[in-house]
Amino acid sequence: MVEITILTPDDIEAGMRLSTQAGWNQVAADWERFIDLSPNRCFAGRVDGRVVATTCLVTYEDVTWIGMVLVDEAHRCKGYGTALFEHALDSVREDTRMDIGLDATEDGASIYRESGFQVASPIERWSGTLKSGDSEDAATVLPPTEADAIYTLDQQAVDIDRSHLLERMLSEVGTSALGIREDGRLTGYGILRPGRMCPQLGPIVVSEPTDLKLLLNGTSAVLSDPTIIIDTFPNAETTGILESYGLSKQRELVRMSYQSDRPLLNGPTIHGAVDFAWG
Ligand SMILES: CC(C)(COP(=O)(O)OP(=O)(O)OC[C@H]1O[C@@H](n2cnc3c(N)ncnc32)[C@H](O)[C@@H]1OP(=O)(O)O)[C@@H](O)C(=O)NCCC(=O)NCCS
Repeated sequence: MVEITILTPDDIEAGMRLSTQAGWNQVAADWERFIDLSPNRCFAGRVDGRVVATTCLVTYEDVTWIGMVLVDEAHRCKGYGTALFEHALDSVREDTRMDIGLDATEDGASIYRESGFQVASPIERWSGTLKSGDSEDAATVLPPTEADAIYTLDQQAVDIDRSHLLERMLSEVGTSALGIREDGRLTGYGILRPGRMCPQLGPIVVSEPTDLKLLLNGTSAVLSDPTIIIDTFPNAETTGILESYGLSKQRELVRMSYQSDRPLLNGPTIHGAVDFAWG
């Protein structure tokens, strides 16, 4: 039998074991961030005291995102994934004002469909080593004084305040924000942070798809090995740019939402998610 408890900082190593086993890019900082921002909404499934399953929630105003749905390979297909997911969902779904979303792998989608989630849009992981671009025409690393401008731009892009998440990400070792300015005003940004396999660029907000090139030029300028991951909503213009920079599609997932037609954490200027776990 699986016992469901709160996931604590002592479980980060166990969480890392599960995300690494699944081939995911998370580092310990990703688990720490979930536990810090949602101390009562990160759940562990334990067998004989050992963490064999996880599910974490994060809330941005009236949107709750579900991530880190993982079950140890040795314990799959015993109902643990469903039990933990339903337990996590129960903690939010009684709040009828709350919209709930997630990005589903093929493995996870059957559980979520059974629980009442519907597909909203495709989302894809793109990865590769960036071809070096025009370093003269590149986004630059933003100083901490630009944090408020980033939060404002992000809020305009997703129609929700995610500043507590962004503030936390920007405080983490090895993480930086790249920005594009027009007439001194911030018009686009991307956050570059460490990953287990390679850095991830996301979220990405740009007013025009072609501005994505400036962020990619800036990214290749700051990384000694410019191999990166971007999770994006596929459209011909965005993916054409990613291809021209040497990236290719690695995985296809689906963004799903629970009894809501509202586009969650998406909008015309969003060109990259934080990642699948954070929306
Ligand atoms: C997705 C995952 C958490 C499911 O955990 P689990 O404990 O095996 O799931 P359950 O035993 O509760 O099974 C739920 C349903 O999914 C099905 N299922 C589980 N794993 C599956 C797989 N690999 N392929 C197809 N179906 C699968 C089960 O058959 C079951 O269907 P049923 O209710 O009709 O019998 C687990 O496979 C996993 O960790 N996968 C890798 C990470 C991942 O993709 N997580 C989801 C992120 S969105």
